Amino acid sequence: MTEYQGAYRAHTNIALIKYWGKADADLFIPTTSSLSLTLNALYTDTRVTFSSDYEADSFALNGEEKSAEEVAKISKFLDLFRTEADVDFKARVESINHVPTAAGLASSSSAFSALAAASRQALQLNHISDQELSTYARRGSGSATRSIFGGFVEWQKGTKSENSMAVKIDDATWDIGMVIMTINTKEKRVSSRKGMAHTLKTSPFYPEWVRQNKIDLARIKDAIEAQDFILLGEIAEANAMRMHATTMAADPSFTYFEPATIKAIQAVQDLRASGIPAYYTIDAGPNVKVLCRASQMNQVEAFLANQFEDMQFIKTTPGPGIQQLDRWE
Ligand code: PMV
Repeated sequence: MTEYQGAYRAHTNIALIKYWGKADADLFIPTTSSLSLTLNALYTDTRVTFSSDYEADSFALNGEEKSAEEVAKISKFLDLFRTEADVDFKARVESINHVPTAAGLASSSSAFSALAAASRQALQLNHISDQELSTYARRGSGSATRSIFGGFVEWQKGTKSENSMAVKIDDATWDIGMVIMTINTKEKRVSSRKGMAHTLKTSPFYPEWVRQNKIDLARIKDAIEAQDFILLGEIAEANAMRMHATTMAADPSFTYFEPATIKAIQAVQDLRASGIPAYYTIDAGPNVKVLCRASQMNQVEAFLANQFEDMQFIKTTPGPGIQQLDRWE
């Protein structure tokens, strides 16, 4: 029996300038570049074992075997690495999502970046740099491109598969924090994949989104360079709402917002009015993530907890890039 094994940790990331639509759906090349913050509190550990003994690929998440449909997605992803290494062994993938709450906040960003890094290690593809690895992670899920690195990360849309990749922008070690409001942790109703494809095809706002996103990205990079927290927050908040506006203008229209999402938006506005700089961003789901000063996370939580009694909050500082795991479990 011949066996190759690798194990890696990757953290999730939250986009401050969103990725919302593919120019090439097969290769996961986006219509716009995007920019995110990697988060310390949420991550995925993944071990992959390629073995001459296995007859089929298999995948267990948090100790539970996943469906044939999910395994098929993983197989397609692993094929990229098998082709590169010229190995045809089947693989066993084991992943643990470390999300300090009920399911629902787990993200494909950490999942595919951890699997990409573990596969590179297992198959000894040492010539693949971290930056190039991000182009592999991208093929599992667009947002995974950015989880290869820590801090603020840009996903440059590029022009082809080889240059649609992550670039590290800044460590984000200047008093940046995030308080996640878990509005609803159930499965999302419209997947990001379906939601962005439908929006791109039917929303008259979509071309304007593409145009504006470029401006937002350039401005947020200036804000990061200047370590201007207020400007960073203002741009991120506006960009999130622009993305959600495209979905509302789609045909048929849809939204990821729930009543509590709107309530949370108003609470963040009240928080700001009370003198604490805090800005919200929202992905393809109802949860609201509040960007604030790390040194003020407790105050932010206390203010919001006052209005949302039973809500679970997750406080996090910026997280690191992919890390090799020397021990499993
Ligand atoms: O790559 P996905 O399927 O995780 O899509 C990500 C879409 C958003 O979270 C809404 C935006 C983003 O850039 O992460």
